Amino acid sequence: MVHAPPRPAPGLPPIRINLYSDTQTKPTQAMRAAMMEAEVGDEQAGLDPTVNALCDRMAALLGKQAAIFLPSGTMCNEVAILTHCRPGDAVLAHATAHILTAEGGAPAALAGVQILGLEGAGGQFDAATLRAALQPPSRYSPPQTLLSVEQTANLGGGTVWPVATLHEVAEIAHGHGAATHMDGARLMNAAVAVGISAGEMAAGYDSVWLDFTKGLGAPLGAVLCGSAAFIDAAWRWKQRLGGSMRQAGISAAGCLYALDHNVERLAEDHDNARTLARALAQIEGLVVESPETNLVYFDTEATGHTAESLAVKMRAEGVLISTMGRTRVRLCTHLDVNTADIEEAVAILRRVLTA
Ligand SMILES: Cc1ncc(COP(=O)(O)O)c(C=O)c1O
Repeated sequence: MVHAPPRPAPGLPPIRINLYSDTQTKPTQAMRAAMMEAEVGDEQAGLDPTVNALCDRMAALLGKQAAIFLPSGTMCNEVAILTHCRPGDAVLAHATAHILTAEGGAPAALAGVQILGLEGAGGQFDAATLRAALQPPSRYSPPQTLLSVEQTANLGGGTVWPVATLHEVAEIAHGHGAATHMDGARLMNAAVAVGISAGEMAAGYDSVWLDFTKGLGAPLGAVLCGSAAFIDAAWRWKQRLGGSMRQAGISAAGCLYALDHNVERLAEDHDNARTLARALAQIEGLVVESPETNLVYFDTEATGHTAESLAVKMRAEGVLISTMGRTRVRLCTHLDVNTADIEEAVAILRRVLTA
């Protein structure tokens, strides 16, 4: 995956429309006010009342016994892998999974595990693929101790795993003696898109986390949930990795604000994504994937542009887009992008591509 972060670019116009990622949202004044008023304490010692409130709320929301506040989604994935696995173990995940493609090799570097990448359309695999990948325990093969799924599947196109498949693969993994983990970076997008609660989606998963820095619009933080014993063990890894914090309630208050104000509105981002995809499909040469949530992917091969050359031209017009391969582009809708921005971005894209 090519996923170069946007760099400060002297001489270029300011960014007017940011479709690069939902991670680029800025906290609103109201969210900042909530953060400013947060009651705080020493998070590392379990004494921050706002962090504790967030963790209690998330555990209830995702149907687990306990939760732990972490700085980022990447740290949630890594703490979960470290907690579930031992060095030499194998994790089963989709070949495009964030843990495999975008975490700097951390599962190998930190946990000493290898990831077996499973194939399947849309960033998902089915029960048959999982069954075929499972090996009977033997002294020769690595212990397959963890199954990991991504809801939504980012590189899969922001697709939503059907709940039945989620539950089926979790059951197969458990039958094999493996634990189950859900990367819920955009779990609320999935829940809002199909009208099924996040808790129901995560049922059958031993650990699950939600990111607050994507469509939910908070500046910092993710919450990992699981059994009380799992979260106890996760705390040691948080401490070892330097992820324990102090007056983190300031951040947790932004997350609580996001839960109260920014979940239902994700439907607007999904509407905008559909509008965007429909308009892009009218541009000659673009092959557009049909969005299920807030991520819109398209291929530029037939236009003669690479993703990178298009991104450079769009940046010169004040529009930030994301490259996800030689000719694969991702546009992301979020709370700092409105319908007028979408229309303008499409007009600019059409002009750039036909120039
Ligand atoms: C599917 C998925 N998992 C994990 C992450 C990592 O989250 P964070 O940026 O909070 O570390 C991302 C971020 O884009 C993601 O898309």
